[in-house]
Amino acid sequence: MILNERIAVCPGSFDPITLGHLDIISRASSMFDKLIVVVMNNMNKSGCFSPEERKELIIKTTCGLHNVEVDIYDGLLAEYAKSKNACAIIKGLRAMSDFEYEFQMALTNKKLNPNVETLFLTTSSENMYLSSSMVKQIASMGGDISSFVPAEIHDDIIKRISSKKD
Ligand code: PNS
Repeated sequence: MILNERIAVCPGSFDPITLGHLDIISRASSMFDKLIVVVMNNMNKSGCFSPEERKELIIKTTCGLHNVEVDIYDGLLAEYAKSKNACAIIKGLRAMSDFEYEFQMALTNKKLNPNVETLFLTTSSENMYLSSSMVKQIASMGGDISSFVPAEIHDDIIKRISSKKD
């Protein structure tokens, strides 16, 4: 362990990881000594990929980023950040519609763990309307998802979604 290492966590459902997520992860990884991408449970969403599958897909797409680790955690984000000694939680913001919910989560997490700051990175304009649910919907109807997901995992996603339909 490096002394005074600056660690951030980037939480999400990642069901599955998209180019929008990857953009946020790679930009955040250049701002910290270590970035832990953590697959978590969003109580408002039902998952398609298992947490282990999501983790594998993230590993496949981030293996070129030397300071990125990938983990799974089923609990409170504030507790996880504390256990990892993280100073920041990184979230991507797409449109203003994301803001109210993210703002509420950031304030709650600050209350639960005052030592961690939530930082928002604005998405790049080409990923503004991109979401995992859109990717799943397009793929399940046989559409082209190649401009929405990293090339390394394109076939894995198609295969998995087709197997769900059978
Ligand atoms: O990618 P998502 O679905 O927007 O990510 C939301 C996620 C998983 C980060 C959020 O639901 C979360 O933090 N879940 C863990 C449980 C938790 O800490 N809940 C309280 C947050 S205020």
